[in-house]
Amino acid sequence: MTASNTPRTSYDTAQERSDAIWEQIATDPSGLRMLTGDRPTGALHIGHYFGSLRNRVRLQEVGVETWLIVADYQVITDREVLGDIRGSVRELLTDYLAAGIDPERATIFTHSAVPALNQLMLPFLSLVTQPELERNPTVKAELQAAGKTAMGGLMLTYPVHQAADILFCHGNLVPVGKDQLPHIEQTRVIARRFNERYAGGEEFFPLPDALLSEAPTILGLDGAAKMSKSLGNTVMLRMTPDETLAKIKKAKTDSERRITFDPEGRPEVANLLTIAGLCTDRDPAQIAEEIGDAGSGTLKMLTAEALNEHLAPLRARRVEIEQNPDHLFAVLRAGNERANEAAEATLARVRETMGMVY
Ligand code: TRP
Repeated sequence: MTASNTPRTSYDTAQERSDAIWEQIATDPSGLRMLTGDRPTGALHIGHYFGSLRNRVRLQEVGVETWLIVADYQVITDREVLGDIRGSVRELLTDYLAAGIDPERATIFTHSAVPALNQLMLPFLSLVTQPELERNPTVKAELQAAGKTAMGGLMLTYPVHQAADILFCHGNLVPVGKDQLPHIEQTRVIARRFNERYAGGEEFFPLPDALLSEAPTILGLDGAAKMSKSLGNTVMLRMTPDETLAKIKKAKTDSERRITFDPEGRPEVANLLTIAGLCTDRDPAQIAEEIGDAGSGTLKMLTAEALNEHLAPLRARRVEIEQNPDHLFAVLRAGNERANEAAEATLARVRETMGMVY
């Protein structure tokens, strides 16, 4: 069997496109408009930071136009309790700005403040079928993770809403984790069908590409597959150096004294080495060699120190930002204004294209 007979998945294709875009970013990032974002569920942890936030700041720095959505309507897809949404939005904004997102260059906005974006969901819903929505593996996994059996209407259709998030500003670059690939594929399907069905084959909406992070995935400090605040297996960006040290000290390791970098055989030890490597821009295997027989106590001290040193400037900015919450919400209002302009312009053109001008 030749390589060309190996079944190719849509994941392979997305990965290839993503690799090509990384090259384009390095040579000529003009014409790239990134749209990505988060559900506001509170402050961010180092998994978010190394997995996506740091990457976004780098893209902003090389001149990629930056749009960040604070997806507040996505919070209510899988929970009945809304909680302190304003507080969660404030924490998220604080982490964005502390990490280096520059509100002068980036547009930060929320779903709920941009009505024309939300209205795009109606024509978009006409372009997808129920079985298509029900097949989405990420939505299915999230339903299960939420411990639910009955699917809510917003949960079933939020990938369509997410297509509106991306397409309203003609975003063509969406930096996301692998779990979001089904949503990007859904967005491409919607853009393609809109262009065919309502725009006479014109390229009204661009087909956006996912940009997959090249950073290694970080596990939870307890060895779980993912860091998550609710599992308590993480270091929050906003923690103090002492809290960070205490968390890292409690991280799971193993009883072997000699430290080696073996992600398959010793995932927890490798995870700490990976974190230390990300902080110092060094090869985790080399750090392991240097620690050698000094054991996991030394590894933990070294990792906590590396983290604290790396995060010190971010944390200092965080404290400054916290002292002026009015500024944060002013940044958000300015972003919402820019997002409204873009969304209203797009919606006006959509209605024109669909002949709905009266
Ligand atoms: N669903 C995304 C997440 O959980 C957040 C998000 C909302 C998003 N709208 C988006 C990401 C649009 C990229 C593009 O991470």
